Amino acid sequence: MIVYEREIPDRDGRDIERLFDATFGPGHFAKTAERVREYSYSLPEITRIGLYNGRLVAVCRVWPIYIGGTEALFYGPIAVAPEHQGGRIGQDVTEAALAAGKKAGHEFACLIGAPAYFSRVGFEVATAGSVRFPGPQDQKRVMLRRLAASDDTPFPEGEVTAPLDAMRAEATQRAYLQRARQAE
Ligand SMILES: CC(C)(COP(=O)(O)OP(=O)(O)OC[C@H]1O[C@@H](n2cnc3c(N)ncnc32)[C@H](O)[C@@H]1OP(=O)(O)O)[C@@H](O)C(=O)NCCC(=O)NCCS
Repeated sequence: MIVYEREIPDRDGRDIERLFDATFGPGHFAKTAERVREYSYSLPEITRIGLYNGRLVAVCRVWPIYIGGTEALFYGPIAVAPEHQGGRIGQDVTEAALAAGKKAGHEFACLIGAPAYFSRVGFEVATAGSVRFPGPQDQKRVMLRRLAASDDTPFPEGEVTAPLDAMRAEATQRAYLQRARQAE
């Protein structure tokens, strides 16, 4: 039986990276979604892992992002160890992470993935051009889903940014002010 639980970074971090290498191959860091992650930090309390006899065999990582200034959660990568694929674990680990995001009060979830697969866990393809990632992106794979938001709340629209963008902008501003003060 698979047990789904939150990520404990010190315990699971290395196993998760190994699972990504085994499922996506070493090229996975080139993807656009990966660039969003570079500017964010994952949320271990919402990320869900699947343990089989104590061994990590599945993960759905979750990251905070902004879509046009509205807070949302980015889901992915989602990965299941090759020998466990096809047994609904991918769906179950994603649903567990979606439930955790909803419980924590987050309104929207976003991901980049195969519509045929992720429509099974409630995602729908975003209106073309409404959610713009930094870098080239196949718009037909950008998907959204409501979490705590009510059914009639419109989906957010706009550029996707991540918390570290804002932090970097602030740091640049601070450095600028410091230089300006020194020059006075
Ligand atoms: C995609 C992945 C997470 C699915 O997990 P899983 O546990 O094998 O999938 P499930 O058992 O929940 O679902 C299996 C079903 O999904 C379908 N499916 C799997 N990958 C799919 C894809 N990329 N597109 C469309 N359908 C897909 C299967 O054909 C199967 O269909 P069926 O129920 O009609 O037979 C897993 O195969 C994996 O780790 N793949 C490599 C990494 C990856 O591509 N991740 C997704 C992008 S973030």
